[in-house]
Amino acid sequence: MEKKTAVADGYIHGFTQDEQDRLFKQARVHEEIIFSQVDFSNAQNIVEIGSGVGAQTLILNERYPEAHIDCLDFSNEQIARARQALKPLLQAGKVTIQQGDALHLPFEDDTYDGAYISWLLEHVQDPIGILEEARRVLKAGGVIYVNEVFNSTFYVHPYSPATLKYWFEFNDYQWSLKGDPFVGGKLANYMIKAGYQNITTKVLTHQYDNRTPKKRSQFIDYWTGLLTSGAEGLIQAGRVDQDLVNEMTRELQALKKDPDSVIFFAWILARGEAF
Ligand SMILES: C[S@@+](CC[C@H](N)C(=O)[O-])C[C@H]1O[C@@H](n2cnc3c(N)ncnc32)[C@H](O)[C@@H]1O
Repeated sequence: MEKKTAVADGYIHGFTQDEQDRLFKQARVHEEIIFSQVDFSNAQNIVEIGSGVGAQTLILNERYPEAHIDCLDFSNEQIARARQALKPLLQAGKVTIQQGDALHLPFEDDTYDGAYISWLLEHVQDPIGILEEARRVLKAGGVIYVNEVFNSTFYVHPYSPATLKYWFEFNDYQWSLKGDPFVGGKLANYMIKAGYQNITTKVLTHQYDNRTPKKRSQFIDYWTGLLTSGAEGLIQAGRVDQDLVNEMTRELQALKKDPDSVIFFAWILARGEAF
């Protein structure tokens, strides 16, 4: 049976240069929390699916310089930016990049020791199909890490109604585009269905309060960028108006100045093995 295309009806973040810059910053914001839990030390070759602008590829190469990495992304715009960012690695033959659909990987069965997927499954219609396809190209004993959002975990104090209303619309809009902003919570079930074994999940968190005021302020800046990256699309879709975006931005700035503010977000890193 022909598989349906994996990509969701729309891509909530868009492909502007600002958005591409945001992906590079985002990768570093999460780097230590994610990669302290990832171990590809036995992987000689890794496939990175939905590699975007190559922001995580750079980190994978820094941490596993001996591994060869094959990248694939659906978007030609992302690939063009990745080709700039990864130029030395491409020239050195450490990395390849190609355009393609994660549901139809252009790689042979039993090829890779490692597979890495980050912030992809929230944007697709058939996450299990993609996980199955990743398993097909992994060797027996190959390891997959899947890093995905779990957006219902977001919390801020003081109560910030415009931000929460915007967040609801952001997630509801992504859901209406046939993505899944809560996919992290279902990852283990999906990986069982896709045929992995020894599945584990870690709940990773950004939790900032009065213990870490500088990190709290930096994270609020990052979070403001993430939320506003969807603003144009949400306004065009009639989901929010500019007044709500302005009020949300004001609330987030106020959080930065509030000496007692709290911001919390958790997501899921799943690991599994092919057999
Ligand atoms: C939020 S970005 C994450 C990029 C990268 N993994 C990172 O963490 O920086 C999601 C990426 O998934 C890509 N994508 C969406 N659907 C895809 C599909 N069916 N096959 C391959 N890539 C896809 C998009 O083009 C986009 O570059």
